[in-house]
Amino acid sequence: MATPLKVGLAGLGTVGVSVVRLIDRQRSALALSCGRPVEIVAVTARSKAKNRGVDLKRVRWVKDPITLARDPGIDVFVELMGGAGDPAKRAVETALAHGKSVVTANKALLARHGVALAKLAERHHVALNFEAAVAGGIPIVKTLREGLVGNKLARIYGILNGTCNYILTRMEQEGLSFADCLADAQRLGYAEADPAFDIEGHDTAQKLSILASLAFGTKVDPAAIYVEGISSIAPEDLSWADELGYRVKLLGVAVDTGKGIEQRVHPTMVRKDSAIAQVMGVTNAVTVDADAVAAITLVGPGAGGMATASAVVADIGDIARGVRTPPFGRATDRLVTSRKAPMQRHEGGYYIRLLARDKPGTAATIAHRLAQQGISLESIVQRHSGPRPQGGDRPDKTAGPVPVILITYATTEDAVRRALAAVKRDRVIMGAPQVIRIEKN
Ligand SMILES: NC(=O)c1ccc[n+]([C@@H]2O[C@H](COP(=O)([O-])OP(=O)(O)OC[C@H]3O[C@@H](n4cnc5c(N)ncnc54)[C@H](OP(=O)(O)O)[C@@H]3O)[C@@H](O)[C@H]2O)c1
Repeated sequence: MATPLKVGLAGLGTVGVSVVRLIDRQRSALALSCGRPVEIVAVTARSKAKNRGVDLKRVRWVKDPITLARDPGIDVFVELMGGAGDPAKRAVETALAHGKSVVTANKALLARHGVALAKLAERHHVALNFEAAVAGGIPIVKTLREGLVGNKLARIYGILNGTCNYILTRMEQEGLSFADCLADAQRLGYAEADPAFDIEGHDTAQKLSILASLAFGTKVDPAAIYVEGISSIAPEDLSWADELGYRVKLLGVAVDTGKGIEQRVHPTMVRKDSAIAQVMGVTNAVTVDADAVAAITLVGPGAGGMATASAVVADIGDIARGVRTPPFGRATDRLVTSRKAPMQRHEGGYYIRLLARDKPGTAATIAHRLAQQGISLESIVQRHSGPRPQGGDRPDKTAGPVPVILITYATTEDAVRRALAAVKRDRVIMGAPQVIRIEKN
C-alpha cells in the first residue's frame, strides 16, 4: 500500500468541516486518483470543545496553528482560518519553511503576502496551492495556471463577489432599492454585518489581483487596481440597461492594453446576451479571452462550505500526486510590477444618465458638448415627464427634470468627464450624472 499523504488542518469552520466531510466521503476515489490515500491526521481551531458535527476521534488535536504547521507528523498544512495577519500568515510561513506544502483558501493573505509566500515555497521546493481563494468552487486558478498555458491571454473578467451579484440581481428583477436588497442579503447571511468590503468592491479587487497575476504574470497587488463599488447604482439604471440590451454587473477586469495591464473593479454594463450576463444571484463566473481557445466562461458557486472544500481537496490531491507548479504560474522573480490603471485613459463605451431640465435646447447643448470631445452616440433616449401643453411642443414651465440616457461608442474616460463637466456648467442638468462603463463582450 502506498504511503498516505498526511494532512494537518488549521480551521474547522464552514470550509474546514466540509473538507473533513469531503475527504471522508471521497476516501477511495481520492486514493485511486492520487495513487495514495489522503488522511487528515491532525487538526486545530480556536475551541477544542466546540461540537462540529464531524467525527474527529481518530484525529490528533494540536494546541495552535503554528505548532501544527511544524508538526513532523504532517506532510501538508491546510490553512482554513482566514485573515491576512497572524496566526494564518505565521502558520503558512512556518509550514513552508519546514518544507511542508500548503493549501489555503485565504484570498486576504494571498492578496497581501502572496508573492513573499510564493518565494518561500519556491525556496523550500514545496507547493503553495490556493484554488479556493478565488471564486470558491470554480477551478479558475488551475485553468489559468495550467489549462490555458498554450494561450496568450488578452483579458480576464469576472463576477467574483456573490453578495454584489445577489443585490444587483434582485434590484433588476424586482425593481428594489440598493438599501433594501442589501438588508435582505444581510438577513440571509450573504452579506457581512459590515458590508463595505464587499459592496465597495475590495473583496473583488483582492481576488482580481490573484487572477491578474496568474493571467499576466503581474505581482499580486490590490493597490494597483482601480476600485469602485455598487452603492451608487439605482434601480432605474438597471431598467434602462435592460431596455437598451444590457445588464449591470460588478466586474473585476484585467486587460492587456498593449501598454500594460489595466486592472479595475467597477459596476459594468455587459450585453444581455453575453455569457457573463446570464449569471444571477450569488453565483460567480469568470470569462477568459484566450487566443487559441477563444473566450471561455466558467460559472459556479463562489462560496459555501462544500463548493469551497471541493477546490481545497483538489489542491490536496495535486500534492498527493506530487504535482508542483509555481504558485503564480512562473518563478516569482519573473513576476512584473503593475501600475495602477489611470482611468482617465480608459477606453470603452459609456452609459450616461442625466437628469435634464425640460426646456428647449437642452438636448442640443448636451449633444454639442459631447461632440466637442469627439464622443459619438450609439443611442440616446429622452423621456418627457408628462403630456405637453395644449397646441404645441413648448414645454410646460412647471414640468420636472427628465431623464436622458446616452450610450456612447468607444471613447476615453477623460473625454466623458470633460463633456459632463461642461454640461454641468451649462446648467441644463440637475444633480450628478450617473456614468457606467460598458465592457465589450
Ligand atoms: N466560507 C466560504 O464560503 C469561503 C469561500 C471561499 C474562501 N473562504 C476562505 O476560507 C477560509 C475559512 O473560511 P470559513 O468560512 O470556513 O471561516 P470560519 O467558518 O469563520 O472558520 C474559521 C475557523 O478558523 C478557526 N480559527 C480562527 N482563528 C483562529 C486562531 N487564532 N487559531 C486557531 N484557529 C482559528 C476557527 O476556530 P473556532 O471554530 O474554534 O472558532 C474556525 O474553525 C477564509 O480564508 C475564507 O476567506 C471561505
